[in-house]
Amino acid sequence: MPKRIVILTGAGLSAESGVPTFRGPDGLWEGERIEDVATPEAFARDPQRVQRFYDARRARLAEVEPNPAHLALGRLDRHWPDELLIVTQNVDDLHERGGASRLLHMHGELASAWCRACGARSPWRAPLADGPPCPACGAPALRPDIVWFGEMPYHMDTIDAALMRADLFVAIGTSGQVYPAAGFVDVARHAGARCLELNLDPSMVSDRFHESRLGPASRLVPALVDELLATL
Ligand code: OAD
Repeated sequence: MPKRIVILTGAGLSAESGVPTFRGPDGLWEGERIEDVATPEAFARDPQRVQRFYDARRARLAEVEPNPAHLALGRLDRHWPDELLIVTQNVDDLHERGGASRLLHMHGELASAWCRACGARSPWRAPLADGPPCPACGAPALRPDIVWFGEMPYHMDTIDAALMRADLFVAIGTSGQVYPAAGFVDVARHAGARCLELNLDPSMVSDRFHESRLGPASRLVPALVDELLATL
């Protein structure tokens, strides 16, 4: 019977809410090459292009809703009496709106802005391309609070500690192509956790899990949550 659970989520979890995944068949991410919009070099080269790209994605948050998979994880969070940590690579706010609170955004959040002048992070819903002042220091130096390629993911110490203690690790809707998240299964498995993958297709790291269940998150996640809550 699991007690301490770590759940890693990726773009596949939000796909059925209408948020596109990163790696479509054409290798483009909403029409852009990842290196043109999701690296510090891209931001240095053409900040307006990068700001506009994330402004459009931030604006779209208002048009999407949590799907049954987010809601099921919210239900698990409310009812699971032992340790639970949901680590998401997603930068949308659908986990929060689905009721999850034991949640870490390891790749940052669209709904947050980070000031390059003073370092403050501020909740943010508006565009950034027009250079608004930082609420903390007034400098027009805000960037998306997103972890770009080549930058360090957030909360790694807390995540590693939870993986080392976990007795169940579940990865949902992630292709297993981006590290360090793709390596969490190895850390958890080495530390003795049962490892379960829920994904539409086999991922790059499926063979490292004890079990892979294939299908849409909106079906597989509520079923898993029912299974887990039935063990209480
Ligand atoms: P990907 O787009 O690489 O992978 C999404 C995965 O979800 C694929 O394996 C799909 O098969 C699966 N999938 C799609 N629809 C699904 C559904 N309805 N139910 C279940 N699974 C489904 O996205 P991530 O693995 O999350 O990083 O990408 C990881 C990171 O790469 C992102 O966080 C982002 C990106 O570059 C940064 O921006 C730093």
